[in-house]
Amino acid sequence: MSYAPVGDATVVERADGRVRLRAGDATVEVTALAPDLFRVGYFRAGRPVDYTSEALADADWRPAGELRESDGLELATGEASARIGLSPLRIGFADAEGRPFAVDQAELGMGADGAAVRLHKARGDGERWFGCGERTAGLEKTGSEQIFWNIDPPMGHSAAQLNIYTSIPFTLSLQDGRARGLFVDNSHRQTWDLAKADPGLATYEAAGGDLVYYVFAGPTPRRVIERYTELTGRMALPPLWALGNQQSRWSYMSAEEVRGIARGFRERDIPCDVLYLDIDHMDGFRVFTWDRERFPDPAGLIAELREQGFRVVVITDPGVKIDEAYRLYAEGRERGLFCLTHDGEEFHNVVWPGLCAFPDFTDPAAREWWGDHHAGHVEDGVAGVWCDMNEPALFVPLQSTMPEDVVRPGGGRAREHAEVHNTYGSLMARAARDGLARLAPDRRPLVITRAGYAGLQRHALQWTGDNSSWWEHLWMAMPQLQNMGLSGVAFCGVDVGGFFGDANAELLARFTEFGVLQPYCRNHSAKGTVAQEPWAFGEPWERICREMIGRRMRLLPYLYGLFEEAARTGAPSSTCIRTGHSGIAAFARA
Ligand code: GLC
Repeated sequence: MSYAPVGDATVVERADGRVRLRAGDATVEVTALAPDLFRVGYFRAGRPVDYTSEALADADWRPAGELRESDGLELATGEASARIGLSPLRIGFADAEGRPFAVDQAELGMGADGAAVRLHKARGDGERWFGCGERTAGLEKTGSEQIFWNIDPPMGHSAAQLNIYTSIPFTLSLQDGRARGLFVDNSHRQTWDLAKADPGLATYEAAGGDLVYYVFAGPTPRRVIERYTELTGRMALPPLWALGNQQSRWSYMSAEEVRGIARGFRERDIPCDVLYLDIDHMDGFRVFTWDRERFPDPAGLIAELREQGFRVVVITDPGVKIDEAYRLYAEGRERGLFCLTHDGEEFHNVVWPGLCAFPDFTDPAAREWWGDHHAGHVEDGVAGVWCDMNEPALFVPLQSTMPEDVVRPGGGRAREHAEVHNTYGSLMARAARDGLARLAPDRRPLVITRAGYAGLQRHALQWTGDNSSWWEHLWMAMPQLQNMGLSGVAFCGVDVGGFFGDANAELLARFTEFGVLQPYCRNHSAKGTVAQEPWAFGEPWERICREMIGRRMRLLPYLYGLFEEAARTGAPSSTCIRTGHSGIAAFARA
């Protein structure tokens, strides 16, 4: 196949704030959703105009703008305008002073290459890119390639990884002190080139589907993020305890061990609000069950911990063990709620429990069923749910993900997995959140996710998965969280102390010094690594950890204020993120 840009276009419909064009067999629509927000939709081969997406919140847009026609078209809002050349069809934008941005590259514009859709924008003079959600490497993404395809990456995240657990195809750019934004809403695999191959060009490609993108006129980073999070939603204000210090381990293996950890915090006077139960609390890794030998009385344990001021969060994985005697599996199979192979068989692969089936969360009935299965946890007093392995991650081959030709029945709207892959994590988190909200309507749900797509912040906070106990990862955490904050995910954090590998005394202390200023502050580590609770390395490290965690506690009113602002405006919510935000603002002023 080779790339073919769209050719000449004619106007077929005009409405307030919107113009629809025809170019060959494609429909193209440009809409001014708000004075500083434009949407472009490119629907090929007679495909219907459809903007439905898991990324979008329910916002009530009232398109408005004046359409001027001379040798091209101009859709103007007062703050910005879309400039549309018809022969051939090329689209660019300008602010009220006529400064151009997000202008189609003249020759290439947008178009198709086989099933793929592609957009080419000329780079503005000195334009620089940030954001792109959860990434490795540094803050600035100029000169990079970015892939949006959720995977469980190999141990030791590095700048060599172009994609990890989540996909947020949104970027904030700066030029001459002005911020703009661009969001390509397409959950197929996306590949971007931000002035890497050609310093004058940004290329955005999605492997299939329609090309739908949104352009934000800013002109401040704050405005761009505010509008982006109006479009894709904001986190609800979490419970106050979710801002506290949190302790995890893969795994605290028994009720006794958990009690010991709780005692460890209280006896040493180290603040801690939440304890985590990783996969070993389950019966043979069957999600929503308990290993009754190791945890004979979960409700009793949780109540006892609650008395001491701890909440308990448990992990859930999407892989459902194939076991006819296991209710979750039997129900899912009976009701047809799992993903299928191309031949219509249940799709199976191996995760922690052995051979598993995987819920198709695009099916609303599957989400409701999954959500309802949190009832036992809610009755036992579990305070929050940690959705893991939801890229989804598979073990055959090791650390692979679901094949693209898996069928997602979708409750009557079947699609290929390739089309919706990146939304698997968001939809699992949504099912969990909605379930918790139904089951305990008087409580604010807390959901944590590893994978997701743009808009995931409506359902869950995000932690960055399996980092390592390395100084490099302490460094990487800062730009990583800052870019997430610049991409709508205000509530985020990395594993304090590092997950894989052995922490050491100074690394833990320094990680904690940094970690307490993250929005989400949880110490977590992998099986087989040395203990890294705040006291693990004795003095003076224990004292440093105590003081730093204490400092976070004293900052809670301030942090809660920032969270309130994040819930209202989408602004990055914590101190280290703020630093990035003001860093960006400084770039913007420069
Ligand atoms: C995954 C998670 C990690 C968890 C482990 C066991 O690697 O990212 O946080 O501890 O699975 O459940």
